[in-house]
Amino acid sequence: MSGSTDAAKGPPAGDHLEIKDSRTGKIYYAPITDETIRTADLKQIKVKPDDFGIMGYDPAFMNTASCRSAITFIDGDKGILRYRGYPIEQLAEKASFLEVAWLLRKGELPTQKEYDTWVADITMHTYVHENIKQFLNGFRYDAHPMSMLAAGVSALSSFYPTAKSIHDPVERDIAFVRLLAKMPTIAAFAYRHVKGLPIIYPDNSLPYAENFLSMIARMSESKYEAHPVFARAIDVLFILHADHEQNCSTNAVRAVGSSQVDPYSAVSAGINALYGPLHGGANEAVLRMLEEIGHPSNIPAFIENVKSGKGESRLMGFGHRVYKSYDPRAKIVKSLCDQVLKITGMGKDMEIALELERIALSDEYFIKRKLYPNVDFYTGLIYRALHFPTDYFTVLFAIARTAGWMSQWEELLLDKEQKIARPRQIYTGYDERPYSTSLDYTHKITK
Ligand code: CMC
Repeated sequence: MSGSTDAAKGPPAGDHLEIKDSRTGKIYYAPITDETIRTADLKQIKVKPDDFGIMGYDPAFMNTASCRSAITFIDGDKGILRYRGYPIEQLAEKASFLEVAWLLRKGELPTQKEYDTWVADITMHTYVHENIKQFLNGFRYDAHPMSMLAAGVSALSSFYPTAKSIHDPVERDIAFVRLLAKMPTIAAFAYRHVKGLPIIYPDNSLPYAENFLSMIARMSESKYEAHPVFARAIDVLFILHADHEQNCSTNAVRAVGSSQVDPYSAVSAGINALYGPLHGGANEAVLRMLEEIGHPSNIPAFIENVKSGKGESRLMGFGHRVYKSYDPRAKIVKSLCDQVLKITGMGKDMEIALELERIALSDEYFIKRKLYPNVDFYTGLIYRALHFPTDYFTVLFAIARTAGWMSQWEELLLDKEQKIARPRQIYTGYDERPYSTSLDYTHKITK
């Protein structure tokens, strides 16, 4: 048996925990690898032989690793984020998003030849089947673009049924390329639909971010040229959002992917998870919060409300499950925000955001709880300055995170230790009781 052994067999060689069960007085040993014990090893700690054995209880996975991963490293206390060992600051300064997408998946930076082929492949797959356009057209004029994006990506699964062959590396390659290529197209179609504007097809003579901005903004001109600062800002934001280890949506992609469903279905689950206001939806919530505050003079009262738990209970764009000193992405986004606002001008939202940040960072409540601005505090301001509607912000996050979701999904598939995700529970309901009923099953409509 791997893992803990009872005292009769003596302690295992190497680092281990010694666990004494106070119910039986028996001693067990749990080997420690990578500062981790395997919770399955606790299962053999029993009072009676037919007991289930000890489980770990960890709602929200606060201290449970669900996988081994070589993709992204985070040290939350020191504010470090690295993709495949490369510091996020260096990638944001020098790399391109598609290069980072390659890096996340393959583990190494591409050679020039690999990069050129990769970009060409993605560019060649930007178009979607016309039926996808019709399908998206069926949404109401006020549909949330995240719901359109999730539905559009889920629908791709039926357009590419061979993607089901997830153990075929060629199918995984093409799914990776298709998803990265088509996500901006579907996202832009959703934007134009909600705006009531004609769809703009991809312009494959343009690089990734420029092509996306062209599908968003082009009107009657024959070619759309995005401002280079705006195009670079979008590319850098995509890099910053490309992966973030086992966050809520990546965990969703891995959990759904563990059933061996096709990648379009798994990524669509990730999009839905990202939609929530505590995750990717936070940048949207930040802007709504700034609108609600309305004027810098209302900030002190707003902060008091947050602290007392009255009204708004959270300062959106502040706090992080992992980062407890600062979010390294927030620093980069703040400087990016300055560059963009130099061109567009500083709006009222930015003024309120800066003052809100200043007050919160000097307030004991936030200092004590280690609550700092996270990546979403400033991304919304950039998106607002670029005239994206508030409910569209999370869509931009989803385009970028596709690179991480797909890399994590593939890592899961290639990990021999992984099986279908299936957590345990502690049952707190009734014990067995007999069923009896006095219902009348005749079909009738009552009000
Ligand atoms: N405003 C006010 N109080 C807060 C906030 C906040 N934004 N975040 C946490 N707290 C308080 C919380 O009330 C609790 O206080 P107490 O100890 O008195 O009960 C304490 O700080 C610890 O909070 P927690 O809920 O246990 O922390 P968590 O790690 O579960 O939550 C979080 C992390 C990101 C969900 C949370 O900080 C939050 O809701 N932030 C606002 C939403 C947000 O900006 N989300 C984007 C996250 S970054 C993008 C991404 O990676 O998805």
